Amino acid sequence: MAIHKQIPNFISLIVVSFFVIASAEVFFEERFDDGWESRWVKSDWKKDDNLAGEWNYTAGKWNGNPNDKGIQTSEDHRFYAISAKFREVNNKGKTLVFQFSVKHEQKLDCGGGYMKLISGDIDQKEFGGDTPYSIMFGPDMCGPSNKKVHAILHYNGTNHLIEKEVPCEIDQLTHVYTFILSPDATFSILIDNVEKRKGSLYTDWALLPPKRIKDPNAKKPADWDDKEYIPDPEDKKPEGYDDIPKEITDPDAKKPEDWDDEEDGEWKAPTIPNPDYKGPWAPKKIKNPAYKGKWKAPKIDNPDFKDDPDLYVYPNLKYVGIELWQVKSGTMFDNILVADDVEYAKKLAEETWGKHKDAEKAAFDEAEKKRKEEPKEEPVVSDAEDDDDSDGTDSDSESKSDTSKDSGEKEKDAHVSSYFPLCLW
Ligand SMILES: *[C@@H]1O[C@H](CO)[C@@H](O)[C@H](O)[C@H]1NC(C)=O
Ligand SMILES: *[C@@H]1O[C@H](CO)[C@@H](O)[C@H](O)[C@H]1NC(C)=O
Repeated sequence: MAIHKQIPNFISLIVVSFFVIASAEVFFEERFDDGWESRWVKSDWKKDDNLAGEWNYTAGKWNGNPNDKGIQTSEDHRFYAISAKFREVNNKGKTLVFQFSVKHEQKLDCGGGYMKLISGDIDQKEFGGDTPYSIMFGPDMCGPSNKKVHAILHYNGTNHLIEKEVPCEIDQLTHVYTFILSPDATFSILIDNVEKRKGSLYTDWALLPPKRIKDPNAKKPADWDDKEYIPDPEDKKPEGYDDIPKEITDPDAKKPEDWDDEEDGEWKAPTIPNPDYKGPWAPKKIKNPAYKGKWKAPKIDNPDFKDDPDLYVYPNLKYVGIELWQVKSGTMFDNILVADDVEYAKKLAEETWGKHKDAEKAAFDEAEKKRKEEPKEEPVVSDAEDDDDSDGTDSDSESKSDTSKDSGEKEKDAHVSSYFPLCLW
C-alpha cells in the first residue's frame, strides 16, 4: 500500500517541479562568459573629462574559480557607467527578481556597489548619473556610518529611498544581493539568499500619501483630564512652616580677634542658608484618579490617499546598468539576473556564489596572510622629507599625521575632498 501511495506522489512531484522550472521566465541573465562585451555598452559619460574608469574582465585577486570572471572597476577616482539591454518587460501580475553578486576587493570605504533597472529607451552611450532609472538596488558605503543597501524606487516622477536602512556586507568577499517585488506590492531583500528585510511598498517607501491620518478636525474634549498627577488635597501646610527663616546667622562664625568695634563698626556674624528651610510650601503630588491618558486625535482615512493597484508595476523595463563613482576601485559584479522566479534566482545564487564561497574565503585568507608577511611598503606621501620615516606599521597615514603635521593634513584634506562627490549623492 505504502509503495502504491508513494509512486503517484513522486510522479506529481516531478511534474510540479517541471512546471516550476518551465514557468520561470528569465528576462536577463549575465554570467560574464566569453562574448559578454557584445551584450554590454560602455558609456562615454565622463570620458571628455578623463574621468571614465576602465573595467577589468577578471576573476579577481581571490576567487573560488579562476574561470568564473566578472567585471571589476580598475581605476581609482573614476566614474563607471555600463549597461545592457534586454527584451522589454512589464512586471504587471508577475514577481520581479533583480539579483547580482558584488565583491569589494579593495576594502571599500567609500563607493557604490549597486545596479539599476532602467525603463524605456535610452542612449546607452550617454548612460550616466543623470539617466532616469526605475529601480536602484545594492550596497553603498561612505565612511563609518553609511553602509547600507540602497533600494530606491522611482514612482510618479520621484525617486524614493527605502525608509528604514538595510545594512550591507562590508567585507572583501562576494555577496549576492536580491530584490524581490511581488504583485501584492510586498517586497523582500536578500543577501546571500537570507532575507534581511521584507515589507510593503505602501509602508516601507513614501510612494503614496499615508492611508490613514490623524483627524485634523478632532479636538480634545473639554472634560478630558490629561493631568497624570495632581496636588494632594489632603496634604496640609505644617504649623509654623512659613516662620522658618531662609537664612540664619552662622553659629560657627567668630568675631575676629583684631576686630575693633570703634573702627570697624559693630561686628555681625555672617548669615548662611538655613538647612531647615525647604522653600515655599506646596502640597505633595498624587496620581490623578480622573486621569484619562494622553489625548490622541483619532485616525481617519486620508482623503488625499488614492490607491494605485499598479504601485509595483514597471511597464517597460529594458536595461540593467551599473553607474558608479569610486574613490578606490576594485568592485566586481557578476551573475546578474532579472527574472520572475524566486526559486530560479535562489538556485543561480547557490550554483555560483554558494558553490565557490568557501574556496574564495580560503583564497582570501591566503592572500591576506601573504600581504601581512610582505615587507611593509613605503607609504605614498607627497612630501619628499617623509621618505626616511619608515617605522609605520598598519596605520601609516595616522602615524604620518603625527610625525609630520603638514603632509599628514594635506593627505587628510585630499581624502575628504575626494569623498565629497559621492557623499553628496
Ligand atoms: C585585472 O585584474 C587582475 C586580477 O586581479 C590583475 O592582476 C590585473 O592587474 C588587473 N588589470 C588591470 C588593468 O587593472
Ligand atoms: C503624482 O505627482 C503629481 C505631481 O507631483 C501629483 O499631483 C499626483 O497626485 C501624483 N500622483 C500619485 C498617484 O501619486
